[in-house]
Amino acid sequence: MSEPHLSVRGLHKWYGAVHALRDLDLDIPKGQVLGLIGDNGAGKSTFIKILSGVHQQTEGQIHFEGKPTRIVTPRDAMNLGIETIYQYTAMVPEMSIARNLFIGREKRKWGVRGFGFLDQRAMAKEALEAIADVGLHLRSAEAPVKDLSGGQLQGVAIARAMHFRSRMLILDEPTNHLSVKETNKVLDYVRQLGAQGITVIFISHNLHHVHEVSDRIVAFAQGSKVADLETADTDVPTMIDLIT
Ligand SMILES: Nc1ncnc2c1ncn2[C@@H]1O[C@H](COP(=O)(O)OP(=O)(O)OP(=O)(O)O)[C@@H](O)[C@H]1O
Ligand SMILES: [Mg+2]
Repeated sequence: MSEPHLSVRGLHKWYGAVHALRDLDLDIPKGQVLGLIGDNGAGKSTFIKILSGVHQQTEGQIHFEGKPTRIVTPRDAMNLGIETIYQYTAMVPEMSIARNLFIGREKRKWGVRGFGFLDQRAMAKEALEAIADVGLHLRSAEAPVKDLSGGQLQGVAIARAMHFRSRMLILDEPTNHLSVKETNKVLDYVRQLGAQGITVIFISHNLHHVHEVSDRIVAFAQGSKVADLETADTDVPTMIDLIT
């Protein structure tokens, strides 16, 4: 078998006295869409915050693409090609769509004195192309992100991940507060990503959505992994039993 895209061993996280993640072992193959389920407080967000450099594990090892890795900051995660999409936090609402798409990777042009300034025009053009590539059509990339609907926001975040060739995409409750139509669009994106060989971790309380898009389902309860199943071998009622 080829080496896993991501592999964690003996991962623990304590927040003070709270043992939020307990001895997690998990291997995720490249291009797999992994659905992560569990009740409130099960440790799902804790796990993905460790992978995205928001928190550090208290104990345990992470291997990414076969190499031992320390993910200490969000920049480390970005450099590895791990992109995380939360409902609201991954964007700066007052800034334009284009600026948001290029956060941390701004294009600059060089002035005569050798100092760089932002190449707004190049970013706006490339942003619109990237967004169109995921089938989202916006008139302008100069509008502030706060004017987008929830589904459009997810679309822009997914366009960013695809445009910069993220290798792993983590979606933590991406469909919260979205309309049915917008939700279906996000679920479509997730399927497209998997089909393109991008590894996806998809977290949702909507077990129907998880069952629809995932290749594999992992359940957490009270910080421990309690189930790890091929999606084809399970159904929604069984998933409900697993997490309650
Ligand atoms: N920053 C923090 N400081 C202290 N405790 C925390 C912190 N973040 C999470 N916890 C605790 O860690 C445990 C796991 O929380 P986590 O957010 O990982 O759960 P979750 O599975 O994502 O839940 P939900 O489905 O409600 O989002 C909970 O007991 C929670 O209260
Ligand atoms: Mg959570």
